[in-house]
Order: sequence, then structure tokens, then C-alpha cells
Amino acid sequence: MTKALQVAIDGPASAGKSTVAKLVAKKFGYVYCDTGAMYRAITLAALQDKIILTDSEAVTKLAQKTKISFKPGDPVQQVFIGTQNITDAIRQPDITNNVSTVAAIASVRTELVNQQRQIADKGNIVMDGRDIGTTVLPHAGVKIFLVASAHERAVRRYKENIAKGINTPLDQLQAEIELRDKKDSTRAVSPLTQAADAQLLDTTSLSIDEVVNKISEIITKKQDELS
Ligand code: CDP
Ligand code: CDP
Repeated sequence: MTKALQVAIDGPASAGKSTVAKLVAKKFGYVYCDTGAMYRAITLAALQDKIILTDSEAVTKLAQKTKISFKPGDPVQQVFIGTQNITDAIRQPDITNNVSTVAAIASVRTELVNQQRQIADKGNIVMDGRDIGTTVLPHAGVKIFLVASAHERAVRRYKENIAKGINTPLDQLQAEIELRDKKDSTRAVSPLTQAADAQLLDTTSLSIDEVVNKISEIITKKQDELS
């Protein structure tokens, strides 16, 4: 039997991780796990319960009891807390601007990393986030670190927002992205960093298809090695 393959895709906000991870998973028939959605779900639950986001103990208890699940969906995977569909709610600016605070709590990370490893134990997986190649799946067979310039990433978010009828100025989006990059890269626990054995892929001037094709080549090569 061929060994299961783990594909870890990390990188800063709007580098294209979830878009390409989902497409790559579909192409190879792998399970896709969006770990950012899990941190977003806990942030939403904490705000709904009016928990102060810096109260680590309260947020950790919440993370331990919150049942997050995913269901396949097109164009986006559907995310649930229990039976509540939170797919759209977790993408709202209030969540985006607060999620890094929740993600910096060590005990919240311990809980979510355990859940992420349980999901990965089920077989072939594509998982995207910030610490997948370094912490969650350090033995992943394929590790990709996706980057793009902050300007290009802000432009991507801008276009995404316009399509949803949201018109936030480009320079504000770029400032928010840079602030989140800074918080994610400088936190004490599992900061955003390229694993030593990850392949760097700069997507600034690449289309989604080009990125998917490059990652697919790497996966196919690895599958051949494992078979
Ligand atoms: O899609 P976007 O890049 O905006 O963010 P995301 O992947 O949904 O992640 C939201 C936030 O969750 C990030 O800014 C990190 O603070 C946190 N996160 C993390 O700390 N570790 C992960 N493995 C994934 C996300
Ligand atoms: O998950 P992450 O925050 O890294 O990024 P994303 O949400 O997958 O992608 C952010 C936006 O960039 C989406 O609207 C994608 O369609 C777009 N994108 C792009 O224009 N070109 C790429 N090579 C990758 C993503």
C-alpha cells in the first residue's frame, strides 16, 4: 500500500494558500484542511460569547468545547460550529482583524494543532496555514511556502472585496495585511516562518493555474518516490 502523503502549504495572508490548496486537493482527491478557518471560528465564537480575546483561559476553554467541522462546497469549503454554518461570518473584517490575537494564545494553538493532526491522520491531506510545515506536520512529504508582495496581496484582497460589494481602500488593506504579517511572524508560539525543508514559491506574478501546476508537479514527483 502507498504511504499517505501530507502536503503542507504555509505563507502570509492572501498569498493564495486556500485557493490553491483546495484546487490541488480536489485534483489529487486528497482531504483539504483550512487551519486558518479554525482560528477564525474560535475568534467568532469568542466574540459571539462576548469573551475578552486576551483572556487566554476563557478562550482556551471555548476552543476545547467548540466543535468545528468542514463540508465540501463550491467555490468554497463550508465551515460549521455544530450545526451553525459560519462560512461567511468568519470572513468578516471584524474576525480578520482580531484572529491574530486569538492565534497567539499558546493553549489555543495546542488544542487546534491536536485537532488538525487528527484530521491529517485519516490519510492523504493538503493542509494550509502558518505553522503546518514547522509544527503541525513537521514530517510532511511536501512542504510549500507561498509568498507574494504585500502590494499584490492587497490587490488580490481588494478585488475579492469588490466582488462582494465591499470597497475598502487599497492602502488600508495593504496596511492591515502588513500588520497581520507582523503579528503572525513575531508571536512567541509557532510564528509564521518557512520550514528549512520547504520549497519557496513566489506567486506575485503567477496565475492561480500556474501555482496549482507547479505544486502538482512537486506532488506527482513525491507520489512516484513513495510508490
Ligand atoms: O486567509 P488569510 O491568509 O487571511 O488567513 P487565514 O489563513 O484564514 O488565517 C487567519 C489567521 O489565523 C492568520 O492571520 C493567523 O493569525 C492565524 N493562523 C495561524 O496562526 N496558524 C495557522 N495554521 C493558520 C492561521
Ligand atoms: O489563503 P490565503 O489568504 O493565502 O489566500 P487566498 O484567500 O487563497 O487568495 C487571496 C486571493 O488571491 C483570492 O481572491 C484568489 O483568487 C487570489 N489569487 C490570485 O489572484 N492569484 C494567485 N496566484 C493566487 C490567489
